[in-house]
Amino acid sequence: MLAVVNHKGGCGKTTTVTNLGAALSLGSEDRGIKPRKVLIVDLDPRGNVATTFGVDKNALGPTMNGLFQAVIDGSRIDINPFVIPPEQLTRWMRKAWKRQFPNRSRGPPVSHKVDSLSLLPADLDLSGIEIELAMRIGREHRLRIALEGAMEQFDLIIIDTPASLGLLTVNALTAADWLLIPIQAEFYALESMGQLLDTLRKVQSRVNPSLKLLGISMTMVQTGSNLGKMVGDSALRHFGERILRTSIPRSVSIAEAPLSGGPIALTTSPIERHPGSLAYWDLASDVNSRFELAYS
Ligand SMILES: Nc1ncnc2c1ncn2[C@@H]1O[C@H](COP(=O)(O)OP(=O)(O)O)[C@@H](O)[C@H]1O
Ligand SMILES: [Mg+2]
Repeated sequence: MLAVVNHKGGCGKTTTVTNLGAALSLGSEDRGIKPRKVLIVDLDPRGNVATTFGVDKNALGPTMNGLFQAVIDGSRIDINPFVIPPEQLTRWMRKAWKRQFPNRSRGPPVSHKVDSLSLLPADLDLSGIEIELAMRIGREHRLRIALEGAMEQFDLIIIDTPASLGLLTVNALTAADWLLIPIQAEFYALESMGQLLDTLRKVQSRVNPSLKLLGISMTMVQTGSNLGKMVGDSALRHFGERILRTSIPRSVSIAEAPLSGGPIALTTSPIERHPGSLAYWDLASDVNSRFELAYS
């Protein structure tokens, strides 16, 4: 289980989660990434993961909030009623594509689908859960308990988190084995890292000793900008090996991809022609290698 965390908003967490989820589920023979059954869990009440795949949030069935309620009640839970399976996610993606390109008679390209990526979506209801959890014993462990069944069903669970270090994020850190931190290449990016690494150490020593830092990834790097280079250099000085090799460039296509129904790693082909897509595939290779190294 991998949690993607940074309490700074807008640093590319959701974009990282959706692109990595897509690439690691699809796999790539060329890159030595074997396909996996992936579940993306959205812990952010803003619910942007669903939006990325074109899911109409008004049409959602039970969501993350319902799952939390079920664990709070203490009953043993089957997560399947809360999950959007690959076929259904694909239907949403195709629908979004048709909305974006109403006049194209051919329909979305055949590659416009997911085979082994599922989503446990969130919506605004989830925002009340922190208050509710705060009064409970074992409040940090609820997500871990909720996802116990899912761990047998999926090869990899990726958790997207809100822009805070509140109980939702702490639940993600308590459930996860790995932490990935995206940082935006801007002046204040490193300042908030101290607080985040402090939280990591607290969670490691108090509730989840098996949590490990998978890496830090640089996002929205403006190529050719001095600031980007400066932040990159100082991040390298501070964190050395922990910085992942691939950095993600700032690119409008990355931000626009969800309009056509998915993260850029899925919606472009051939990927080599799209620097943003290529970068996320490279990042997926980095992450894949770190996993393989750890489990070999
Ligand atoms: N590499 C990038 N280049 C340009 N825009 C990006 C890039 N990565 C993310 N964005 C956009 O920036 C905004 C914030 O990204 P997001 O992934 O939602 O961050 P977070 O989940 O950390 O709040 C979104 O509108 C997203 O589309
Ligand atoms: Mg987000």
